[in-house]
Amino acid sequence: MPGVFICEEIEDLPIREIGGEESDISAESPIGVFDSGLGGLTVAREIMRNLPNERIVYFGDTARVPYGNKSKATIERYSRQIVRFLKTQDIKAVVVACNTATALAIDEVRRTAGIPVIGVIEPGAKMAVKATKNKRIGVIATRATIQAGEYASVIRGLDPEIRVLGQACPMLVPLVEEGWIHDRITDEIILRYLDDLLEHGVDTLILGCTHYPLLRSEIRKLVGGGITLINPAYETAIELGQMLSEQGLRSQTMRSPEEPNPYRFFVSDDAGRFTDFANSILPVDVKTARVVPIEEY
Ligand code: DGL
Repeated sequence: MPGVFICEEIEDLPIREIGGEESDISAESPIGVFDSGLGGLTVAREIMRNLPNERIVYFGDTARVPYGNKSKATIERYSRQIVRFLKTQDIKAVVVACNTATALAIDEVRRTAGIPVIGVIEPGAKMAVKATKNKRIGVIATRATIQAGEYASVIRGLDPEIRVLGQACPMLVPLVEEGWIHDRITDEIILRYLDDLLEHGVDTLILGCTHYPLLRSEIRKLVGGGITLINPAYETAIELGQMLSEQGLRSQTMRSPEEPNPYRFFVSDDAGRFTDFANSILPVDVKTARVVPIEEY
């Protein structure tokens, strides 16, 4: 029977087990947000900023990260398990806050979730189509996301004349997690990755991996002002608000600042490292994350 291990005691965090009582979903229920690890916090951060009345249950798959070099079947299985766990928390909608999981498993999540689902690729792709003037869009992402071609297919579905150039940048995730954001070595690696895209004259660049918005100011500095940078995390938060409104699921009440635990965090390993990272990028204080034995879901 699945359970949840508490890393650090925190009050008011009800944990339900699969097969428990009937769930009672309403507009005041939390949104389930998941990622392969820490990076999806950039999406959670945009939801916190743009939809401040919403509650969030975040799951970071820190035991099985990275997803960026795994197969579709594996990422589909991981995503199914995570959604099953999140549903024990009575979530009203799922945000697949991971580009790789969106690219490889969003159809499977939509098929199995039974509640509204949004991924990060469509919102980012739509904004890039609006932004490009010369119809050349660059996408930087993990290898798996680039190989899946999902950004390119959404963009071309909207405008077949647009040329989409993808570049896998596998070294950027570890550099961000290492905290090497404003660093000469990181700058050199970014430039090396972007070389080809810049040569092909892209005027719009999608930051197609959860970690890259944290490199936004470095990338801006390196590419100059002539290229529009698209942050799918921001676009997803905006589209999530619209989706919740359309489905009658947008929280209507002003959340009291006193409300205990409007944001709850779960991981599959190493809660300490997760909370340190969360506290370095979120606008709220994260006291604890609980470790979930995700393989049991
Ligand atoms: N979260 C992943 C993404 O957005 C990056 C990290 C990983 O490879 O799992 O693609």
